[in-house]
Amino acid sequence: MIVDRFGRQFQNLRVSLTAACNYACTYCVPNGKKLQPAEAELDAEQLLRAVRLLVDGAGIEKLRITGGEPLLSKKFETFVRGVSELELKDTAITTNGQLLPKYMPLLEEIGFKRLNISLDTLDAKKFRSIARSGDLETVLRGIEMACDVGMKVKINMVPLKTANFDQVLPLLDYCLDRGIELRFIELMNMGHLKLSDQYERDFVSLDMLLATIRSKYEVEPITAAYDSTSLRYEVVGRGIFGVIANESEPFCRSCSRLRLSSNGHLYGCLSNTKNYDLSPLLTKPYPLALNELQGVLTSALGDKQSIAFTGETTVMKFIGG
Ligand code: 5AD
Repeated sequence: MIVDRFGRQFQNLRVSLTAACNYACTYCVPNGKKLQPAEAELDAEQLLRAVRLLVDGAGIEKLRITGGEPLLSKKFETFVRGVSELELKDTAITTNGQLLPKYMPLLEEIGFKRLNISLDTLDAKKFRSIARSGDLETVLRGIEMACDVGMKVKINMVPLKTANFDQVLPLLDYCLDRGIELRFIELMNMGHLKLSDQYERDFVSLDMLLATIRSKYEVEPITAAYDSTSLRYEVVGRGIFGVIANESEPFCRSCSRLRLSSNGHLYGCLSNTKNYDLSPLLTKPYPLALNELQGVLTSALGDKQSIAFTGETTVMKFIGG
């Protein structure tokens, strides 16, 4: 296994099934236009082959299916069936939940256990002004269906000062009532945010977030796994929430993530546009491909930042959150 001078290695793979999305969130796209598929996206079989290669060659233990919006992709069913056969330690999906009611029977059938659902507000009007598409009730129905069949659900919220900051406590209460772990994601300065003052205007820091939650609840820090990106807290007697404090408490030093885009490009760091096209490896004899992959992985690991995320105009859409 390839390890760098900080002891980092790739253990977590995030695969973007498609760059397309059925939302147009204000912090993700600048113009309100929904994202389209990337050029030359791989099919499900090719992506599965790449995943197998990375599991064998990089020692990947955990896999997350992302996008774009992964449930929007026609590849979804074949891909999710394929990865469930790999029997990895952990497999999860990050979705905006809009198509969850449709796919819940499939996920139940294959025994899928973990979902992260993005939800920035419980207010239908705010929902439309942030996501600029989709329907809040559908997401809430999807969350209920997932909880009802016993899936482990986490909700991701990006607090934004000017758009949904008043939703921090309502969303926390919603999650605490249902035994769902809410994860606040600090706004990351990437994509079009880097080119305007939107980031400065909307960024909510860990301190500001905790002060708001402590105005209502007693909150204690609890320990999280070493390579976890999330700081975890207990609302005493009620439940747990997490904060992905990418700015306030950077976690690059223990980052074990590797990203595969929908067109088969490998990214070692979310903060770096450097990438490596895996598609030529997918048609080579497996042992040869595995061998060549080692050089790619060494380069990709070298692309990680040493301390903190510096941001890039690369957008989350291509490489998954
Ligand atoms: N900063 C923080 N989180 C972001 N996401 C997308 N763009 C950003 C950003 N600039 C989040 C989505 C989703 C997850 C996949 O990534 O809200 O919850």
